[in-house]
Amino acid sequence: MTQLNIDPALASAIKNFQLPETLGFGNVMAPVMASCEYENGKWGELTLLPYGPITMYPTSKVLHYAQEIFEGMKAYRVNGKGPFIFRPEENYLRFNRSAERMAMPHVPHSIFMKSVFELTSYCANFVPRRSGESLYLRPFMFASEESLGIKPAEKFRFMVIASPSGSYFSDTTVGGISVYIERENARAFPGGTGYAKTGGNYAAGLSAAIKTKNLGFVQTLWLDAREKRYVEEMSGMNIFVVINNELVTPMTGNTILDGITRKSIITLARDMGYTVVERNIDINELLSEIKAGRCTEAFACGTAAIISPINYFGEATGERYPLHHPDGKIAMLLREGLLAIQEGRVDDKHKWIAAVEPKTL
Ligand SMILES: Cc1ncc(COP(=O)(O)O)c(C=O)c1O
Repeated sequence: MTQLNIDPALASAIKNFQLPETLGFGNVMAPVMASCEYENGKWGELTLLPYGPITMYPTSKVLHYAQEIFEGMKAYRVNGKGPFIFRPEENYLRFNRSAERMAMPHVPHSIFMKSVFELTSYCANFVPRRSGESLYLRPFMFASEESLGIKPAEKFRFMVIASPSGSYFSDTTVGGISVYIERENARAFPGGTGYAKTGGNYAAGLSAAIKTKNLGFVQTLWLDAREKRYVEEMSGMNIFVVINNELVTPMTGNTILDGITRKSIITLARDMGYTVVERNIDINELLSEIKAGRCTEAFACGTAAIISPINYFGEATGERYPLHHPDGKIAMLLREGLLAIQEGRVDDKHKWIAAVEPKTL
């Protein structure tokens, strides 16, 4: 059984915290964080402490060689119910798949779950209550070993921080997000780290994010690295398109993150009677289907964004491919269906939500 230490300063940090009216996404941090260190082949004690700066040496390997992984998950507390954490086992499994790819130790189930659940328990009052809002939980692990040698570290730190959050996209993107088709850079390649949730994948997408923004788009769509032909995903979300009333999404492999929202949507859509097909999507086929009116909508999905309809795809040349349903008819039905489960408003027949007991100090 993992022992939990509580820092003596935590009670006053919690008492002094006030949830601001305006949240945004990932801007406001909850007053509690969890921390556990790995050294000499074993995990040490797990501690809950006030959120604040951490000290590390400039030689910490993560700062040079990017040995780092993270997760993103949410706790909901709407209509006086919850907090409920959505599919935490899936995040735990994916975290350790990322750890293996990045030559990092597995985080034991008890340390991962205890960190996430205890942190949420003490932050229960800071889980925002309006529909679509949540406490965004961010478990992460990094190589803390101090040395410039390029070799796998043997010292690591696992932490969980949390952010009371509102919607991922600002109001200016209501009515659908615009998506830029990135035809030059690649985010991931066969044999690479695309399926792992590691910081380097995101860093590799940032210059395209600048280009995307400068061209007036909101999100970048990545194509496969080899042929620049098959749709993969966005920088922080998976993608679905609706062709002839069927939901189509790229198969996940080692270049695409196996999204938990994606997985849940596949189940939910099938429950709702839709056909869902996982297959390669040729970008040229997709654009022709949009022009021909057979692809009527498309949407991005992920823990942070939930489900966000796509308004149009576009190219650097200025061409635009608007969707017939930019507000996402099916997308919004699925979004409501998914949120109803996440917020505990309907029967959780797949056992996706885990209840958390609120605690005070
Ligand atoms: C690259 C990438 N793809 C897809 C997703 C969606 O995954 P999930 O639904 O598990 O949040 C995310 C976000 O976590 C992501 O970072």
